[in-house]
Amino acid sequence: MISKKMQAALNKQINAELYSSYLYLSMAAWAQGKNLAGIASWMEIQAKEEYGHGMKFYGHIQERGGAVTLEAIAKPTASWKSALELFKAVAVHEAHVTSLIHGLMDLAVAEKDYASAEFLNWFVKEQVEEEANAALIVAKLEMVGDSKSGLLMLDGKIGKRGQS
Ligand code: FEO
Repeated sequence: MISKKMQAALNKQINAELYSSYLYLSMAAWAQGKNLAGIASWMEIQAKEEYGHGMKFYGHIQERGGAVTLEAIAKPTASWKSALELFKAVAVHEAHVTSLIHGLMDLAVAEKDYASAEFLNWFVKEQVEEEANAALIVAKLEMVGDSKSGLLMLDGKIGKRGQS
């Protein structure tokens, strides 16, 4: 059985993951509005992944005999100055999510909740990947700079995500 403290923290993380999904969907819509279809597609895939993360927490709470409580999802930012600023925001957001996951891991260890710690391990690894993906795209967008043709080419490459 899951402790009340752990249950509350995991429920909060469902909200954080669903907010992430909503944020990436907002980013997808912004990119589509700028005719950056590749980035929009990347963001849509990301939004689905985040929904999946939320559902993993949902499943874990239930599997442990806990109760799921859903709270309101905050309104996400809707516009960014450029594709570079967009992916910088992704990087900042993922660093924030990593700190949330680490906080949950700290709590699981403190509570001797080894099942939750094992469950959270997947997210610790996932966050390494999420941060690395964002950092790589930020670096590429920085290389492209103000070049419109460079951005167009990069947009096509970013859009290849999930197609291989
Ligand atoms: Fe669910 Fe991007 O972390």
